[in-house]
Amino acid sequence: MPKPRSFNDRLFALRLERSRDDLFGMLERLYGHRPDFVRFTEHLTDALKQAWEARPERLKWRDMSRDLESDWFQRPEMNGYVFYIDRFAGNLAGVAEKLDYLQDLGITYVHFMPCLKPRPGDSDGGYSVMDYTEVNPRLGTMDELEAVTKACHERGISVCIDLVLNHTAKEHEWAEKARAGDERYRDYYLMFVDDTLPKAYESTLIEIFPANAPGNFSHYDDIDRWVWTTFNEHQWDLNWANPQVFLEMVKVMLFLANKGLDVLRLDAPAFLWKRMGTRCQSEPEVHILLHALRAASRIAAPSVIHLEEAIVSPSEMLPYLGRGEHDGKEGNLAYHNSLMVQFWSALAARDTGLMRHVLGTHFPPAVTNATYATYIRCHDDIGWAVTDEDAAAVGVSGFGHRAFLSDFYEGGFAGSFAKGALFQVNEQTGDKRISGATASLAGLEKALEDSDAVGIEHAVERILMGHALIASYGGIPLLYMGDELALLNDYSYSQVPEHAHDSRWMHRPMMDWARAARLPDGGATPEGRVFDGIRHILARRAAVPGFHGAVPTEVLDTGQKGLFAFARRAPTGTIACVFNFTEGWTGLSASWFASHGAAKMHDLLSNAPVAGAGGSVVLPPYARVWIA
Ligand code: GLC
Repeated sequence: MPKPRSFNDRLFALRLERSRDDLFGMLERLYGHRPDFVRFTEHLTDALKQAWEARPERLKWRDMSRDLESDWFQRPEMNGYVFYIDRFAGNLAGVAEKLDYLQDLGITYVHFMPCLKPRPGDSDGGYSVMDYTEVNPRLGTMDELEAVTKACHERGISVCIDLVLNHTAKEHEWAEKARAGDERYRDYYLMFVDDTLPKAYESTLIEIFPANAPGNFSHYDDIDRWVWTTFNEHQWDLNWANPQVFLEMVKVMLFLANKGLDVLRLDAPAFLWKRMGTRCQSEPEVHILLHALRAASRIAAPSVIHLEEAIVSPSEMLPYLGRGEHDGKEGNLAYHNSLMVQFWSALAARDTGLMRHVLGTHFPPAVTNATYATYIRCHDDIGWAVTDEDAAAVGVSGFGHRAFLSDFYEGGFAGSFAKGALFQVNEQTGDKRISGATASLAGLEKALEDSDAVGIEHAVERILMGHALIASYGGIPLLYMGDELALLNDYSYSQVPEHAHDSRWMHRPMMDWARAARLPDGGATPEGRVFDGIRHILARRAAVPGFHGAVPTEVLDTGQKGLFAFARRAPTGTIACVFNFTEGWTGLSASWFASHGAAKMHDLLSNAPVAGAGGSVVLPPYARVWIA
């Protein structure tokens, strides 16, 4: 008689059944033609089962509780904070000591920037990983990562870390074996005996780091091979057409999930699938892979969700949240790159026409079982992802507008309030990306240098408007470390040999704990006003049920080019959010709000009534209101 199956086994079987088609159905389309396909599926099932068996009971309980509140990541109390562990707190043990600070800010989600073991020397900020099962020894150990994650959970904070899928460091064990001639591992990467194919691919590829890592392939004399290296030479692209790569990455993913991590930020997934004659970005197979990876998490680590980092054009981005057959089954979170780009674009232009067009036409009011990660700044540069078509639709030249934005944020444009730096100028296309800290791009650095009181005021208001925007638009707002203290550009990176070539380090400062200790200061300093303001915004967001990520967002027209507005169509009533992108005073009539369903004339952000009946809402420079 067969032994009766344990509750645990039956639970696994149930979870496997529920997601079987999403996993194997998808994989069959990629790998089904291969003679080893059946064996591969057996190995994959074993890997899932083993991970499930190894999953600590505490996390299985977390799985169950999140089954019961599967919208946890869409809830308005979700407020994110993103930081480099060393720059924020020295190491993992240090992070544990800073949790009071984060909680006081209203943070319920932290993203530890790359913390797995990187290659020595320049590691692209940790995105060149040589061992996915170890923590960067400078930051601590895997046990410490597990412990700090647990400490976060005890305070209601969820934890995200990066999982780099597209490439490993060339020092990763797989790469070293490939380099040593092991055929099994050579098939983990994309290697070519001569440059015929690389040249053919290259003719349609774009360059990611044209200035310091030109081209997408690197030649190694010792093995006489060309290797696909989309990003830097030390980052070898994995061959996802090989099912063994999928299997290995599932093992890595579940290993990390079993350490308690809640969110895996899948780094650069757009590049996973290569197809001759294309840009090799966002190919349909990418979405099949991401759908299958998500199913694997759902089976063996169900409380874990995926954040997909696809910094692509507006129409290309949406599928990362699951469109068509992938609806509700791909990324739970994806960066809203367009919202970020449009924020800076409208600020510079004092015109929200392009923003309204892009956000109003390319994005549906809501997505299934998913939401955005909203942000105004992160550790990367800003690429002006404005298409020529979108620009033309509002009567401007795409090239001209992108060039204007680069000049404006570099600071060279006459009258610009910003101070930034160029990043990776592409001489061929004229494309110029921008580095810079939020506060410096928003005008604080320049205004302080000029002792310009009005300029300082405006800069503070711009920073706060940006945060009010990302806190209300829909999705988890990600506060980027130091922005709550209005930290400025950090020019010291040019003295660090490993960083000097990469201006992104300008906006990756050290946390200024001395400054933090002086705050709050009753608004006596610009940073004090920013700190109070951001803390207030996050607290108010958490108090507004209508900001749930599943609530539709509808872009509205105010008839004024300086204003951007949208309605959150909550079951409890509409919230009309309005933002003044200019340094001018203006207003909107009560009847405009009423016509959009927001008649209560109560501002949920200041939590106070606005104009009386028949009056209008006064909007000072850079005003932001959330009218119920
Ligand atoms: C992602 C990261 C970026 C890194 C790249 C390559 O885009 O955000 O910092 O350079 O991936 O790993």
